[in-house]
Amino acid sequence: MIDKINSIKNGALNSIEKAGSLDDLENLKIKYLGRKSEFTNILKSLKDLPEEQRRTVGQQSNATKKAIEDVFMQKEQELKAKSFDFAAEKIDVTMPAKKMRRGHLHMLTQVRNEIEDIFTSMGFETVEGPEIETEFYNFDALNMPKDHPARDMQDTFWLKTEKGKERLALRTQTSAAQVKYMEKHEPPLRIIVPGKCFRREATDSTHEHTFYQFEALMVGEDINVGNLKYIAQEFFSKFFKKDIKVRLRPSYFPFTEPSFEFDISCTVCGGKGCSACRNAGWLEIGGAGMVNQNVFIAAGYKRNAYQGLAWGFGLERLAMMKYKVTEIRLFHGSDLRFIKQF
Ligand code: DAH
Repeated sequence: MIDKINSIKNGALNSIEKAGSLDDLENLKIKYLGRKSEFTNILKSLKDLPEEQRRTVGQQSNATKKAIEDVFMQKEQELKAKSFDFAAEKIDVTMPAKKMRRGHLHMLTQVRNEIEDIFTSMGFETVEGPEIETEFYNFDALNMPKDHPARDMQDTFWLKTEKGKERLALRTQTSAAQVKYMEKHEPPLRIIVPGKCFRREATDSTHEHTFYQFEALMVGEDINVGNLKYIAQEFFSKFFKKDIKVRLRPSYFPFTEPSFEFDISCTVCGGKGCSACRNAGWLEIGGAGMVNQNVFIAAGYKRNAYQGLAWGFGLERLAMMKYKVTEIRLFHGSDLRFIKQF
């Protein structure tokens, strides 16, 4: 039986060596190791052999099987390497690449960066304040004592936790950063404060409970309304990349005196009147004014030692004008169809 096994082995190794293709090799595999092969029959009959013989023949068969399998594998690799079809596998370097989807900054972030760049070029520093603020900085320090009716203009999200004895709120305005900054810095100073604000309001296409403002504050010994107009005009002309005129209308804010509503000439028609400005020629931008001396007192400055200009503009509002968006809620919604457009 050992002879038989050896002759199968020699036959197998011989013919495997000569196999010219993967198909040939497959057939040889069936012939030599297949279920109906002579070798498999021998393996099956092992159990009928006497004990002594079974061991030697068994060992011999296993070694043979392993030897044949090894040669098969070797040959298979050899044939596969040979059958590699270079013509079919060649790479067409002129084929257009697969389009990759790239993420990008949210439009509001782009607008914020743009605003910061323009103000940096005018010598302003960008400052940030916390979104959770004490009642003092958000209201009291801005000349809005607890019973001041102007507080009702800004419905507030109050927090249940307090800081010491101070009530905490989600800041309703970036003006909250004014006194905080002035406590630590002496004039002359020029800052903008971009950031998120919150108000407990019903939403519609132009109002959101969460929105961005950017505050400007410039303080020195002889700052005046002319500076306010000029800086704003420079900023808006750069931001909209066209000549923009500005207009101030009398208004009221506790933290400024005098206070103004701030308008710019319509960015669509330039002031002639169109549907975007409802024929007014002007677009309302936000509040501005000359810093009330009481705010300086809260910051620890001497009364009448300085004068300052300030404003708080809505960032979404500017973005909406620039990119012709008519629904403010799209900014903080997560609709990718909107986000991808800009
Ligand atoms: N904080 C005001 C608001 O949110 C806007 C504002 C008005 C800010 C006048 C100012 C300012 O700095 O001078 O309604």
